[in-house]
Amino acid sequence: MATVEVCDLRRSYGSVRAVDGLSFAAQPAAVTAVLGRNGAGKTTTVEICAGLRPRDSGSVTVLGKDPWRNPTLRPRIGVMPQAAGSGAAGVYPAARVGEVLALFASFAAHPLDVGALLDRLDLTRLARTPWRRLSGGEQQRLSLALAVVGRPELVFLDEPTAGLDVAARHATWSLIEDLRAAGVTVLLTTHAMDEAERLADHVVVVASGRVVAAGSPAALTREDGGTVRFSAVPGLPVADLTTRLGTAARVREVSPGEYAVEGVPAQHALATVTAWCAERGVLPDRLSTGRRSLEDVFLGLTGDGPPA
Ligand SMILES: Nc1ncnc2c1ncn2[C@@H]1O[C@H](COP(=O)(O)OP(=O)(O)O)[C@@H](O)[C@H]1O
Ligand SMILES: [Mg+2]
Repeated sequence: MATVEVCDLRRSYGSVRAVDGLSFAAQPAAVTAVLGRNGAGKTTTVEICAGLRPRDSGSVTVLGKDPWRNPTLRPRIGVMPQAAGSGAAGVYPAARVGEVLALFASFAAHPLDVGALLDRLDLTRLARTPWRRLSGGEQQRLSLALAVVGRPELVFLDEPTAGLDVAARHATWSLIEDLRAAGVTVLLTTHAMDEAERLADHVVVVASGRVVAAGSPAALTREDGGTVRFSAVPGLPVADLTTRLGTAARVREVSPGEYAVEGVPAQHALATVTAWCAERGVLPDRLSTGRRSLEDVFLGLTGDGPPA
C-alpha cells in the first residue's frame, strides 16, 4: 500500500485553481519528487498531504488516514515547510539552534541524536545562535533537522535545497538518501531537474495543478528516437528546419543558440541539421545525440522556457 495516495485533488484560492485534479502516490521507503515550476501547485499539495491545509475535493490518504484534522498522524510525520525567503519564517526567533532541536527531539519517543544531526548539517558551531540570527541557508538546514529529528515514518520536504550552497545541497541529498535507506518515505518538491533526477525513485511532473507525467527518472528520460542537440547562432528559423525534417519532428531553441531536435531518427536528424545549417552558412557546434535529460522532458511537457 502507498504511504501517500492522492486522488483527483482540487484546491482553489478564489478564482485561482492551484491544484486542479491531481493524482499520484508515494511508495514506502522511496523518494518521490513533485517537480514543477513556481506556481505549479506543489506547496499547496504538500500542505494538504501534511494536514496543514484543507482541500476542496478529492481524496488524500496518508499512512492509511485522512490527514486533515488528524492529530494521530502528527508524531509519525515530519514537515519542512518552504522557506519564506525573507527570513521571517522563524517560529522561535529567540530560541537557540541547539535548544529548539533538543525541544523537537523531546517530543519524540525515539529521536535521532541531536549532536550528530547538528554535525551532519554543519550547525554545531551555531548551536548557541538564536534562530533570528541565522542566514536563510542556515535556517533551512535547521528546518530540515527539525523535520527529521523525531525519526518520522514519512517526511514532507518543500524545496529542501532551494537557495542552498553546493556543500549544503550535498549534505541535504546525503541525509535524504540515508532516510530512504532507513525505510523513511520521503515526499519532496523541487523545481530543480537535476535534484529530481539524482534523488528520486519516482518523479511526478506537475504543471498548472495537474500531473503531466510521472515515472522513474529513467523511464521519463528513456531514449525515444534520441535527441540531437546543437549550438549555433541564436534565432535560427526552427519552423523551417521542422518542415525539412518531417511532420514527426520537434525542433526547439531550448535557450538562445541551443537547439534540440526530437521525434526523428538521430541519423536523419544529424544529416538534415548539418545540410540545413550549411545552406545558411551557419556552423553547427557541439552536435550531439543522446538520452534526453529530465530537463528536456520537463521543458517538453510544460511548454515554454525554463522554470522560474
Ligand atoms: N494563500 C494563497 N492565496 C492565494 N493564492 C495562492 C495562495 N497560495 C498559493 N496560491 C496560488 O496558487 C498557485 C499554486 O501555488 P503553490 O501551491 O504555492 O505552487 P508552487 O509551490 O508549485 O510554487 C499559484 O498560482 C499561487 O499564486
Ligand atoms: Mg512552493
